[in-house]
Amino acid sequence: MEILKKSYIGNMELNNRIFLAPVTTEKDWKVFFSKKTKKFIEKRAEGGVGLVITGGYPVLLNENIDYIKVKEELKDLAKIVHNHNAKICLQITPGCQWINYNLDKNSANEISEEDIKILIDKLGKLSKIVKEAGIDAVEINGSGGNLLDQFHTKRWNRRRDSYGGSLYNRMRFTIECINAVKNLCGGEYPVIFKFTPFHCDNLGIQLEEGQEIAEILERSKIDGLHIDIGYSDMWYKSIDTVYQEEAEQVDTASKIKDKVKVPVLGQGKLADPEVAEKILKEEKLDFIGMAHQLIADPNWVKKIRSNAPYDIVHCISCNDCLGALINEGEIKCSVNPLCYNENIINNKSYRNKKILVVGGGPGGITAALSASEKGAQVELWEKTNKLGGNFLAAGNDFFKKDIRKYLNYLNRKLFRSKVKIKMLKEGNIENIDLDKYDKIILATGSRPVKTDIKGRNNNVSSANEILTGDKKFGRKVAVIGGGLVGCEVAGFCGEKAEKVFVFEILDDILVNESPGINDEQALRKLLKDRNVEVFSSSKVVEVKEKEIVFEKDGKINTIEVDTVIGAEGYISNSELYEELGKSNKVVLIGDAIMPANVIHAIHQGYKEGRNL
Ligand SMILES: Cc1cc2nc3c(=O)[nH]c(=O)nc-3n(C[C@H](O)[C@H](O)[C@H](O)COP(=O)(O)O)c2cc1C
Ligand code: SF4
Repeated sequence: MEILKKSYIGNMELNNRIFLAPVTTEKDWKVFFSKKTKKFIEKRAEGGVGLVITGGYPVLLNENIDYIKVKEELKDLAKIVHNHNAKICLQITPGCQWINYNLDKNSANEISEEDIKILIDKLGKLSKIVKEAGIDAVEINGSGGNLLDQFHTKRWNRRRDSYGGSLYNRMRFTIECINAVKNLCGGEYPVIFKFTPFHCDNLGIQLEEGQEIAEILERSKIDGLHIDIGYSDMWYKSIDTVYQEEAEQVDTASKIKDKVKVPVLGQGKLADPEVAEKILKEEKLDFIGMAHQLIADPNWVKKIRSNAPYDIVHCISCNDCLGALINEGEIKCSVNPLCYNENIINNKSYRNKKILVVGGGPGGITAALSASEKGAQVELWEKTNKLGGNFLAAGNDFFKKDIRKYLNYLNRKLFRSKVKIKMLKEGNIENIDLDKYDKIILATGSRPVKTDIKGRNNNVSSANEILTGDKKFGRKVAVIGGGLVGCEVAGFCGEKAEKVFVFEILDDILVNESPGINDEQALRKLLKDRNVEVFSSSKVVEVKEKEIVFEKDGKINTIEVDTVIGAEGYISNSELYEELGKSNKVVLIGDAIMPANVIHAIHQGYKEGRNL
């Protein structure tokens, strides 16, 4: 297999061609080497990657580096990774951290020549101690709007000194950074450069210039080129979302590979082993990077090695990892409750415990599986003839495919487990015998809200019915509600329908439940591409057989449509919990407590199934 072949970056021999793409795990970079970060990295090395590239270590003008302390921490990190037969490369970001970059400040124009020299000097000194600590390589990060990337493009670099003007001048800072590392660490020490040869709009770097940049870098004795695309305004191109196809970055990276001989590293939704293998076989990339997928499942390589790709936990591209990093200070993963909790170990066995889980959505399945893994005797009841709950609507084979892939994984895992699955069995006060079980986990989920609109009864389908294919839609579609689900169902219908309208009572769509910045950019682009028309500050007042009537700016308007879809939110199915009298044996999880992102259902399911 190409994936598992030994390969080289410079003189660094790697066990295989899979690398952990850089992942900043904590917002406060001063805790860069926290125990949790080390454990996070260790788990990925243990999981079989050939190379770990760390999250970006910033070299800043106003921060002094404690070289002695950093060296000790790096020694530790190198040892941890080498113990698992993997290699480690420290990513260094000169000038600013990816999370703080602010293009409005246009730092490339503001920074003085003297400060450039200071940054280069610090970068060189840091690299020297990185090498001395046993770290195998450094990666200089000049991608996606970071300081070096700003220098590369005329759009942001308007300097009149030797760092501005021609492409070579605009790359001078980058080249001086590479030289500084090579001078202090020796020419043989591997240096990778992460850069953006295409900004994905017509204002920034275009591919042709990106190819020239690659050629200049090769002449500057770089050992590997790590290709990124996009920048903050096109962030969904750099950090992919659920709305995009897999392997979107590969075309650009392969066009760079056409121009150079040094190894080219790429990433961007390369989680499918068949896709990764094909890319390597067709020589589009030399190394396959994964950030999201290895957050979701650190054992991806191990599972490929043991011919068990069916056991890979597929990332659902929800970007809650990024959201948690930005909003809560450290990463989390929806489908991997142990991510960034890798130290938590519960060795208890619960062989004699009898557990009932009611509801076969992702939270219920996770609860059943984790209790069963702890040795408990578990029954899972699902009232329909399909497992998945609202997740069946959240993703299908044509839209948000990542979700369907994860659901398929859950199904496979469940059917291989010892959990007794009872389909078409609805839990109720009569058939749940409280004395029979030690714990009853209610994962009864949520159902769509139906607001009181004249004529809605026979004329409105729910977003779930449309997304699961239970109901068809016509040529002209109206969606009531411009929240996340409303926008997604509009985007879904927009692929086939002639025209889709969204009616939102607030003054914009995606208010209150806005996804992350990159996800929102991608979803708005999808709606635009699919010609979805949004009526904001608009209240639907009546639904007729072939018409929707709405009020905007005090005026009543009518539009002819074939299909009306309600996407006005969800309400918890908590009735069973109320009926069971809140016995202390009974716990409620996920949407049944409050409709929310799936991360809550899965994490609560894992916790309740684990702690019996
Ligand atoms: C939580 C998170 C943190 C990231 N931190 C960094 C970083 O420190 N440096 C960097 O160059 N890229 C960073 N990235 C980008 C990834 O390395 C990668 O380029 C991107 O996520 C696309 O690859 P993927 O589809 O395999 O995730 C980060 C991505 C995520 C999701
Ligand atoms: S949080 Fe979501 S996007 Fe991030 S790795 Fe986990 S499943 Fe993937």
